[in-house]
Amino acid sequence: MNGIILCQSKYGASKKYAGWIAEETGFKLVETKKADINDVSTYDVIILGGGLYSESISGISFLKKNISALKGKRIFIYCCGAAEYDEELIDMVKKKNLKDGLENIPMFYFQGAWDLDKMNLGDRTMCKMFIKMLSKKDPATLNKTAKLFLDIKDKKCDWTDKKYIAPLIERIKEENK
Ligand SMILES: Cc1cc2nc3c(=O)[nH]c(=O)nc-3n(C[C@H](O)[C@H](O)[C@H](O)COP(=O)(O)O)c2cc1C
Repeated sequence: MNGIILCQSKYGASKKYAGWIAEETGFKLVETKKADINDVSTYDVIILGGGLYSESISGISFLKKNISALKGKRIFIYCCGAAEYDEELIDMVKKKNLKDGLENIPMFYFQGAWDLDKMNLGDRTMCKMFIKMLSKKDPATLNKTAKLFLDIKDKKCDWTDKKYIAPLIERIKEENK
């Protein structure tokens, strides 16, 4: 089984998961921005991972652009957000990201990290505005993810854990038996 992991990570959480996946599979790890489709298309298994930003998966455009060149490959996607795993959230992320030929690609969700101090000014400002907007809403109308964002606000959180990659590793092994 030969494979490649493409990862686009701004603050390190999805990169950490990419490292753990590389450890478990022995696959090569490449930054999505530096990936060359001529190289990527030589692998049987392609894993694309990235942070979740306003519900969009970082680096997903690489797959959208190159999906026709990857016909017949085993492709997997994972994304990393601050939100806790939640079926409703995952469905929404899938609907938003898995389109234009990506509909049938298995997607996995791993909880990442959150630290306003580590964010660049633009991201920090956007997150603070988002949280302020949430705080003005009637708490009874907030979903689980919104409540979590209100709770973590200016806390430093790191939920990354190697255990989350187990279902992805199992699926890769199963499909390559
Ligand atoms: C501007 C911005 C938007 C974000 N949007 C979301 C989001 O829609 N859902 C979510 O769960 N987390 C969101 N996050 C949190 C990141 O997904 C989280 O910190 C993740 O671990 C980042 O992964 P990375 O370090 O690999 O880029 C956002 C963070 C920032 C800075």
